[in-house]
Amino acid sequence: MTHDSTAIVTGGGRGIGQAISVELAAHGFDVVLADIDEAAMEETVDLIEAEGQTGRPLHTDLGDIESVESSIEEAIDVAGSIEVLVNNAGIAGPTAPCEDVDTDEWEQTMAVNLTGPFAMCRALLPHMKDVGYGRIVNIASVTGKRPLVNRTPYATSKLGLIGLTRTLAAEVGSHDINVNAVCPGSVDGPRIRRVFEKQAEASEQTYEQVRSEVEAESPRGELVQREDVADLVAFLCSEQATRITGQDINVSAGKVMY
Ligand SMILES: NC(=O)c1ccc[n+]([C@@H]2O[C@H](COP(=O)([O-])OP(=O)(O)OC[C@H]3O[C@@H](n4cnc5c(N)ncnc54)[C@H](O)[C@@H]3O)[C@@H](O)[C@H]2O)c1
Repeated sequence: MTHDSTAIVTGGGRGIGQAISVELAAHGFDVVLADIDEAAMEETVDLIEAEGQTGRPLHTDLGDIESVESSIEEAIDVAGSIEVLVNNAGIAGPTAPCEDVDTDEWEQTMAVNLTGPFAMCRALLPHMKDVGYGRIVNIASVTGKRPLVNRTPYATSKLGLIGLTRTLAAEVGSHDINVNAVCPGSVDGPRIRRVFEKQAEASEQTYEQVRSEVEAESPRGELVQREDVADLVAFLCSEQATRITGQDINVSAGKVMY
């Protein structure tokens, strides 16, 4: 399904979500952006329009179930039909040893990274079942599959998203609704560069030393680009991927192989 179709991308304003939105537009999708950042969404709308498709910003807070539900209602109302959902928005959560993690921060990380995607799926599934078609892609992470010390809330939420992916895929496959997870490794961009700068400061290393240590974890010796993630998402939403469902696929330049 590549023409006259609409996709919803959460967190489509910036970063990986912006790249996914633009790639889906390049594949003929109109895109509804569900994000809290209005200015960022405007920038992505321009990029979607440059691909000749319609972009619609829809203020949505993934941490608030009512906000999610009213956005899905509005999106179906405006677009008529929604074929694709990409649950991309996510937050890093706190960095602290488990015993120091604050309950509010734990719950906020779960709310945005796990309950939000669940609520998006729950609200959209009756519509997808009516249409008899749907493609859902959850952006998880290699974190969770492999440990990341001092990040228990994030790692737990991302592995939880893979659990949601598998069971939902089993529940809805007979309706021609596929559910997959994409698990990025470290994606190059401003966010990861800030993380490297902080690590360099904390460990009295240079930025280049920190970055090359992370790059060396990949057999290819490199980070992932956000377009690599976007390409896989677009493929999973294409006809070529009809018989791929319930999978969690790494885009980590080989850093994680399971
Ligand atoms: N960047 C990486 O290295 C990396 C690696 C693995 C997985 N991921 C995952 O990929 C996804 C995107 O990451 P990114 O690096 O592009 O992040 P980012 O911080 O650059 O962008 C996140 C987007 O989500 C939006 N957002 C944040 N909280 C929201 C909320 N409550 N409701 C709605 N929108 C909200 C932001 O406004 C922003 O547009 C996340 O789920 C992240 O966990 C990222």
